[in-house]
Amino acid sequence: MKAANYKEFAGPKGVKVGELDLPELKEGEVLVKIKAAGVNPVDAVITKGYYKDMMPHSFPIIPGWDMAGVIKKRGHAARRFEEGDEIYAYARRPEIKWGTFAEYIVIPESYLARRPKNISVKEAAAIPLAGLTAYQALYVAGDLASGQKVLILGSSGGVGSFGIQLAKARGAEVIGVASSKNHEYMRSLGADHTIDYNDRDIGDAVKEIYPEGVDLIFDCTSGESLQQSLKSLKDSGKLVSILNQGDDLDPKIDHQFVFVEPNSLQLDQLRELVEEEKVKVKVSETYSLDEASQALQKIETLHTTGKIVIVP
Ligand SMILES: NC(=O)c1ccc[n+]([C@@H]2O[C@H](COP(=O)([O-])OP(=O)(O)OC[C@H]3O[C@@H](n4cnc5c(N)ncnc54)[C@H](OP(=O)(O)O)[C@@H]3O)[C@@H](O)[C@H]2O)c1
Repeated sequence: MKAANYKEFAGPKGVKVGELDLPELKEGEVLVKIKAAGVNPVDAVITKGYYKDMMPHSFPIIPGWDMAGVIKKRGHAARRFEEGDEIYAYARRPEIKWGTFAEYIVIPESYLARRPKNISVKEAAAIPLAGLTAYQALYVAGDLASGQKVLILGSSGGVGSFGIQLAKARGAEVIGVASSKNHEYMRSLGADHTIDYNDRDIGDAVKEIYPEGVDLIFDCTSGESLQQSLKSLKDSGKLVSILNQGDDLDPKIDHQFVFVEPNSLQLDQLRELVEEEKVKVKVSETYSLDEASQALQKIETLHTTGKIVIVP
């Protein structure tokens, strides 16, 4: 099959496209024809070897953890789906080797869920990693409740766009933080208030909107933006970060770091929210498989609006 791949940690520019053999289909696995693959910042980070001491890697590596596609073949005992079923998945495996920037993937069927029917395959491919991250951060770690106030740092990107919509679906009030050019977009997703991190101190701006502070900060940027925001967290409030592991934080802060896990039941929940039109997906750019390196260079800028996808 045709697949983007790399044989050493040389960053996004070292990603080439070539022919690779598919692995044998084993017990509980399915062969999926990939129709589209979402691109995430972590895909670029991995090409630089930043995860090499945390997870086993095996070259050549095919990048990509997100996909939507169709089941082509089932291995022995793989019976949850039929051939021809349209599925999507967050395909992070215990070993970094077989990714989604390819024509096909062989994967345990436990990773898969039926994809939303009311959106395009490109939009579906953009959901799993970022959608699950927002779900696990806001609904599981953050235990967000109706009427609560949540501040989302980095709310026009992949994760933050789902964050705004999931928070609104729970009945929360949302302040979104990103640069001004993205404020109209964030309001279209449901943000009640927007702040530009370039303009002013984020914590001061939040306190003008909610003098009593917010119940939850969902941090998708960390750094100075997070440090400025902390003064706007209520004493009883919680910080959920997908970047900050807490080393530079006041231990009095109720803080939880989330590293997104594959979860097909939560993908079912996300499908329902999309089919109820409570969650929409913005695909801002589409790349071909031959352009995988460019897609990775774009995502590592950390200034994507919505999501970008690769169509093999
Ligand atoms: N732990 C996990 O499981 C997990 C899961 C997913 C992602 N992540 C990480 O979380 C981060 C966000 O992921 P993503 O996919 O949402 O990235 P993304 O699509 O590139 O979005 C980045 C967002 O951050 C905003 N931004 C950039 N600089 C900022 C600053 N200084 N202050 C406030 N906002 C800023 C951007 O808005 P503007 O363009 O307007 O600046 C944009 O809204 C990445 O670093 C990614 O690696 C972690």
